Amino acid sequence: MLAHFLALAAAPLLAAAQITITQPSAALWWVDNSVNTLAWTQGTGTNPSEFTVMLANNDTSLLADRVAIFAIAYAYQYSLTVPATQWQAGTGYTIQITDTLNTSHIYSTSDTFELKAYGSAYPTNVATSASVTGSASGSGSAAGSATGSSAAAASSTAAKSGAGNKAASVVAVAAAGALAYVMA
Ligand SMILES: *[C@@H]1O[C@H](CO)[C@@H](O)[C@H](O)[C@H]1NC(C)=O
Ligand SMILES: *[C@@H]1O[C@H](CO)[C@@H](O)[C@H](O)[C@H]1NC(C)=O
Repeated sequence: MLAHFLALAAAPLLAAAQITITQPSAALWWVDNSVNTLAWTQGTGTNPSEFTVMLANNDTSLLADRVAIFAIAYAYQYSLTVPATQWQAGTGYTIQITDTLNTSHIYSTSDTFELKAYGSAYPTNVATSASVTGSASGSGSAAGSATGSSAAAASSTAAKSGAGNKAASVVAVAAAGALAYVMA
């Protein structure tokens, strides 16, 4: 848990004053026609607080033109679930974060990633890759109060979902107990 918190706290140091897309990436592909995850970190300073999310590929045989997958996303959301949509499986895709009023104004672009064919396995290294990112950036000591608060928000979200899981497993244990009681 401590390691997890440190990874989250360190992440904003990596992102130099902008939105940095962490998923998808070369290692964290998407699967066509399936639910996918978009995730980012935000740096300090001049982040856009809201932006449009575009899917792009220079290979027009895969994607004739860029498509908006979220007209407006808010920086504080940190991740969004992308509903299943049928595109063309292939490589060379990028996600672009743009001005909501002018999608030619690109704030940041993801790594290229592969959109794997429908039915392909999802990446399994999501959590691992997040902690690798965190530890790689752990040398900076200048985490100001602004980064502190975004890290706190992220860790409180993580804490909440952790608590949710615990509550769910208590319910499951209680249900199993009740079932044992009925069967005895
Ligand atoms: C797509 O083309 C643009 C303009 O030539 C270039 O800057 C960009 O790096 C290319 N993207 C990829 C993923 O090849
Ligand atoms: C939209 O953004 C592009 C790239 O930054 C810029 O060249 C263009 O002037 C902008 N258009 C408007 C209407 O502001």
